[in-house]
Amino acid sequence: MTEDYIPGKEIDLNLEKILISKSQIEQRLINLGSEISNDYNGKEIHVVGVLNGAFIFLADLARQLKVSCKICFLQASSYNDQKVSSGKVKLMHNLDLRGKDVLVVEDIFDTGQTLKCILEDLQLQEPKSLEVCALLSKKIPKKIPINVKYIGFEIEDRFVVGYGLDYAEKYREIPYIAYIN
Ligand code: IMP
Ligand code: MG
Repeated sequence: MTEDYIPGKEIDLNLEKILISKSQIEQRLINLGSEISNDYNGKEIHVVGVLNGAFIFLADLARQLKVSCKICFLQASSYNDQKVSSGKVKLMHNLDLRGKDVLVVEDIFDTGQTLKCILEDLQLQEPKSLEVCALLSKKIPKKIPINVKYIGFEIEDRFVVGYGLDYAEKYREIPYIAYIN
């Protein structure tokens, strides 16, 4: 039995394969947290989590930060319960980031459509700095060129769930990242 085994859940989930284990995620977050903390030494980070997918990642990452931060969220949706992006991104927020050091925290950098839309929108608020941290980045040929400064893991082009990522709002609560058919 592995540390990632959830009694009674594995079969229900019909997950094909654990891609990134709970302990691999924990270890990577410690490193990401110290890298970000070094880069923002002496500053206050305005962390903007992208709902819904980034809520667990952000909660764990924020507790690895050794600099002061303010945490807020925006909501972005593009998938409409499908495994392929609809290409349309809807944003909702009430943020005021003028002059702030902003770090957008996203679950996954796939085509980049969502991040492009978020960055264009937040740039209008004239933050002092604007960077992105994504837990995952998919290796796909046609990515929108976006500078994602902090990436947790690069993964192959397969649909994944867990650790905040969903398929039709399911599987967000599982503590590791798995491929799903
Ligand atoms: P993009 O706009 O194509 O970069 O897609 C980004 C958004 O699509 C992410 O914020 C996720 O919510 C969702 N997404 C992309 N790939 C996956 C996946 O493999 N599993 C779950 N959600 C995904
Ligand atoms: Mg989603």
